[in-house]
Order: sequence, then C-alpha cells, then structure tokens
Amino acid sequence: MIRTRVRRPDRNSLADAAAILRAGGLVAFPTETVYGLGARAFDAAAARRVYAAKGRPSDNPLIVHVDGPEMLDRVSRRVTPLARRLMDAFWPGPLTLVLEKSAAVPAAVVAGGRTVAVRCPSHPAARALLRVLGEPVAAPSANRSGRPSPTTAAHVLRDLKGRVPLILDGGPCAGGLESTIVDARGRRPVVLRRGTLTDEAIARAAGVPVAEPGRRAPAAPGTRHRHYAPSCRVILTPAALVRRGGLAGLAAPGTGLVHRSPRAGAKPRWSLRVPGGAAAYARGLFAALRAAEAAGVETLYVETVPDRGVGRAVMDRLRRAASR
Ligand code: TXA
Ligand code: MG
Repeated sequence: MIRTRVRRPDRNSLADAAAILRAGGLVAFPTETVYGLGARAFDAAAARRVYAAKGRPSDNPLIVHVDGPEMLDRVSRRVTPLARRLMDAFWPGPLTLVLEKSAAVPAAVVAGGRTVAVRCPSHPAARALLRVLGEPVAAPSANRSGRPSPTTAAHVLRDLKGRVPLILDGGPCAGGLESTIVDARGRRPVVLRRGTLTDEAIARAAGVPVAEPGRRAPAAPGTRHRHYAPSCRVILTPAALVRRGGLAGLAAPGTGLVHRSPRAGAKPRWSLRVPGGAAAYARGLFAALRAAEAAGVETLYVETVPDRGVGRAVMDRLRRAASR
C-alpha cells in the first residue's frame, strides 16, 4: 500500500505530479468529463501499472491525452482531414478521436492494436499537467474497473486509495459523462461511444453524416464490458412512474430512487433528485449512483430520460449499469 495524497492543482502539486509521471508513476487528475488515472504515454511499464491499479482487463486500450495538434502528431502517424475538422470544432473538449497510431506509442497503451484513441482535454488542471510534463499522458477513467466513472476527487479516493500516490483535486467535473469517441480514420465519422457531444453536432462539424459502426469496425472495446455499475441493483424507471407515484416497491427496506421529475406517492427510504435537463442529469448521474451505494441502498430505481441528444449517452450508461 502506498500513501495517497489529495492536493489542489497549483504550481507545486503540478510539478510533483509531472515528476511522478516522469519516474513511471501514476497521477489521478480532473478533466471536464470525468477524472483520469494518468501515466506517461510513451512508457509501457507505467501503462501496465494503470491496468493493475484499476483491475482493468488487458484487452481494453487507454485514451491518450495531448495538449493540442502538435502533440497529436507524436502519437498518430496519419491524421485525416476528417480528424482535423473535428479537432478544429471541438478541441480542447470532450471528443476522443481514433486514428492510426505512431510507432512511439507502446503496445501496452493500445492493448496491442494498430489504432490509438486521442483527446485534448479542456480542464485547466489537465492542460497544465500536459504542459508541465511536455508529453502525452495515457489515462482511462480513474475508477476501479467496472464501477461508475469518478466525477470528484473523493470518488477517486474511494476506488484507488493506496494504489495511486497523488490525486489532483479540481472539484466536480463539469460534464459528468466520459468523452464521445469517434473513429476518424475514414471519410465519415463513426461514433464508438456516445457522450455529451451529440451525433448531430459531430455531423455538422464533419460536414458529412455520421456512419453506423460496420461489422468490421471495432467498437470501443470497453463498451463491451460490464460497466458503470454501483454495488446496488439498478432498475430503470420511466418518468411517468415517478410522477404518478406508481412505484410500490419503493417503501421496502434497502430501496432508493434517483430521479429528475417531481416525485409522487410512496416515500422512498433514500432518494436523490437531480433536477434539470438531460445535461444536468448527465453531470450528476455517476455521483448519484455512488451516493446510493454509500447510503447502503441495495435496489436502486433510476429515472430514465428520452433517448435523444445527450439523453442517448445517459441511457447508454444507465442500460449498462442495469445489466448484470
Ligand atoms: O472522458 C474520457 O474519455 C475519460 C477522461 C479521463 O479522458 N477517459 C475515459 O477512459 O473514459 P476509459 O478508459 O474509461 O474509456 C476509454 C474507452 C474504452 O471504452 C476503450 O475501449 C476505448 O475508449 N478505446 C481506447 N482506445 C481505443 C481504440 N484505439 N479504438 C477504439 N476504442 C478505444
Ligand atoms: Mg472507464
């Protein structure tokens, strides 16, 4: 067990973070989507430490974080015109591009594949870390494998205490869902994982419609695994049932409710309301799942949202959280 320190990002903590990364160690840091667990991207041994700390299956590649297009050229050997258009529109921000990898990226980072997933985060602490280090950082979400992604430093601590020496605490993440992943190797964008950037926004920036993943195109491998699951059982619950009070099971011990709509009927033993639109729900969802778990809830009813726009990404995560 190593000692885990939680520090605000400032000059000193960022310099220490960069030193840890240079020495092959791990640092958790905030991004505008979720917290990441970073390692130097050109260091195979450091990447293997990321898999070990997370308990992550070795067939699930990491996302490489860069500070802009120049650093991208060090990790990809072919940046397509489509990728340039999407970068111009959305970087820095919650968009990850899948491209052909360069020889510099070790196999351990990309799980032996020929492609690399790259993103340029907009969070000031993530940008500062990349700038101070001067090199790309491989970073999956900073949760133990299978659990909801962390949107606060406390979530990271809960999952990775004793497994990472330093967590940079930049407060709650603004986005709350992981980045949108787009395969940008071809002429048309292929969305491999949905996020807060919608298909419509991507098509508009690309100037061509989004293509469906072909049977040969690799899905984001991580989307095949069970994911986003708190320790409680999750039951998807339509808004109409929440509003009409049609949830008889709610009064039972060990049950809880995460909802957006005003609630009617039986008072649940535990409940958390995340009011607002789908984007607000996206921001609060993982934290709500973790709060229910911490409260000892065993059966958690979670209100669903319409399956469009950001709601599509929310429903993707909720379906996975509910499947077992
Ligand atoms: O917002 C985010 O993307 C966060 C922050 C920390 O940047 N990171 C994140 O990483 O969500 P992770 O490891 O939890 O999810 C990465 C996803 C996985 O589903 C993985 O399979 C997919 O990206 N992926 C990574 N490399 C890929 C590649 N070369 N081709 C297709 N999918 C890839
Ligand atoms: Mg993850």
